[in-house]
Amino acid sequence: MSSILLITLIVITKCTACILAIIFAFFLLLRLWVEPFKGRCKCKTKLHGKVALITGGNSGIGFETAKDLAKRGARVIIASRNDEKSAKAVESIKKETGNHNVEYRQLNLEKLNNIREFAKKFNNDFDRLDILVNNAGCGEFGKGNTEHGIDLLMQINYVGPFLLTHLLLDKLIISKPSRIVIVSSYLHAYANIIPEEITVAKPVNFYTRYARTKLCNVLWAKELAKRVPEGIIVNALHPGLVMTNIFDTFNPVIRYLLYFIIYILFKTAEEGAQTIIHLCVSPDSVNWTGGYYQNCKKVQPSKKVENSDLARRLWDESISIINKY
Ligand SMILES: NC(=O)c1ccc[n+]([C@@H]2O[C@H](COP(=O)([O-])OP(=O)(O)OC[C@H]3O[C@@H](n4cnc5c(N)ncnc54)[C@H](OP(=O)(O)O)[C@@H]3O)[C@@H](O)[C@H]2O)c1
Repeated sequence: MSSILLITLIVITKCTACILAIIFAFFLLLRLWVEPFKGRCKCKTKLHGKVALITGGNSGIGFETAKDLAKRGARVIIASRNDEKSAKAVESIKKETGNHNVEYRQLNLEKLNNIREFAKKFNNDFDRLDILVNNAGCGEFGKGNTEHGIDLLMQINYVGPFLLTHLLLDKLIISKPSRIVIVSSYLHAYANIIPEEITVAKPVNFYTRYARTKLCNVLWAKELAKRVPEGIIVNALHPGLVMTNIFDTFNPVIRYLLYFIIYILFKTAEEGAQTIIHLCVSPDSVNWTGGYYQNCKKVQPSKKVENSDLARRLWDESISIINKY
């Protein structure tokens, strides 16, 4: 009886090991298979003498972008909220790239006044701005409004970057040819907006709130590209699904499940930064402005982005918001 039990146990153990090995091999092959579709920036462009500002450059995709641009010789400024994290990021970039022209400036996109102060100091201290990467973004569940009653997520992901870019535009004009890169997400396709109501926190789930901000990003890139002088290239992008701190505020079960799926199938922060880097340095993208990119290639955004009237109304509303507060 006991030997039957033992044999059964051995068979079950072996079967389980076999199944686990097959699952592991399947995911490994899947990961290898998706690798070539991820897109890498192969440009050798050097950036000596150029100034690059990367919001949210202390972590995730922004950090990897800052590191790459520093490696290419640019003077890099990372702008985020957290002093300690940012100081560490600067040290790590300096150490890894050997470029000591890297610095941190405090920026809180939640507060319009803070953005104005940041821009004033920046415009005072720098005589040029060649690359502006609007990367900082928030994916937290928390609902709330800013001191001006603007939906917090909309403020951090869209209204704040809109104001910042507006205030730094003269420096980008002086430095032409220059570039503005706006980090959006493929989730923009799942949103709808009424431009005149973007500041209102709607009682919708997190994904819809986030998606609305990212649709604003793509529409903004399209409209901004039309309005800036020739020689300023503006593009938006989806970086891919990337394992970063952005998921830290998720429910732990969802987060670890996501991490597992992302680890197997999707991108590291270094891989996620590739499309941003490509738009910052690629000689090809000089011919493309107002576009939407993924995996270092120009792709079609959602049909909603083709609606020029929507983009124009969003522009008008955004100007009226930054003039009002
Ligand atoms: N990860 C993905 O799968 C994914 C997919 C699509 C799009 N994206 C977009 O990619 C961008 C970068 O995200 P990530 O994944 O790299 O996330 P992350 O590692 O969490 O980085 C977010 C960055 O934004 C900064 N930030 C957040 N709130 C800010 C505020 N109020 N003011 C100034 N800076 C602020 C953070 O700085 P502090 O730490 O100092 O606050 C941090 O540097 C975001 O726009 C995100 O929406 C990410």
